[in-house]
Amino acid sequence: MLFDSHAHIDDKKFNDDRDATIARALESGIEGILNAGADMFSSERAVELAERYEAVYAAVGIHPHDAKEARETDYSKLAEWAARPKVVAIGEIGLDYHYDFSPREAQKTVLIRQLDLARQLGKPVIIHDREAHGDILSIMKKEGAGLSGVFHCFSGSMEMAREVLAMGFYLSFAGPVTFANAHKLKEVAREIPLDRLLVETDSPYLTPEPYRGRRNEPTYVRYVAETIAELRNIEPEYLAKITTENTKHLFKIE
Ligand code: NI
Repeated sequence: MLFDSHAHIDDKKFNDDRDATIARALESGIEGILNAGADMFSSERAVELAERYEAVYAAVGIHPHDAKEARETDYSKLAEWAARPKVVAIGEIGLDYHYDFSPREAQKTVLIRQLDLARQLGKPVIIHDREAHGDILSIMKKEGAGLSGVFHCFSGSMEMAREVLAMGFYLSFAGPVTFANAHKLKEVAREIPLDRLLVETDSPYLTPEPYRGRRNEPTYVRYVAETIAELRNIEPEYLAKITTENTKHLFKIE
């Protein structure tokens, strides 16, 4: 049984077949799906989905893309949602210097506010880091004390992975680990301790091989898991079991 530790099935790309997508995932042996919020609207949708579908859990948070829109009242709303039983994390939150949709200072401020919120609420965090490795590490070291969480769709080097592991965090891998030219990423997925590894789809984005280019969906987490099992020379069933246990442990599920 696999757990898709990060997906966006609230996305409008699933409006025509959301029920069927979730049913396909369950039939293919996916035990759970953690739907991450990215702004106030999608966070509320994530909470609704978690309350509607037994296998779906939610995270709520403001993505760095939307940091410039964050308002003071949003933090109390996030706290209110986070009190619901199936809301298991604050996320996804972080820094994105690839798109820079929000000014970097706003991204940092909103990230730090949400790290504080997670600490107050006793919730783990889901970290988004795109081309911001240096700043995210220094903020997490300074402002992330006492927190647990995961660097989702990890994209750093082995050296960075060691720093993340030293903070006690997990690393999660998505479709890119299946790409033939992802040498650095494959090295990290092969070398890190198995008890700190999660798998995800980030669907509808980042579709793994062999479906690269199409819409992604939770069922395809299997291709991420199979790739990593092969890299580590272990049985896919064993990798599935351990990564599912890791996900449940981190997010205190069951
Ligand atoms: Ni995401």
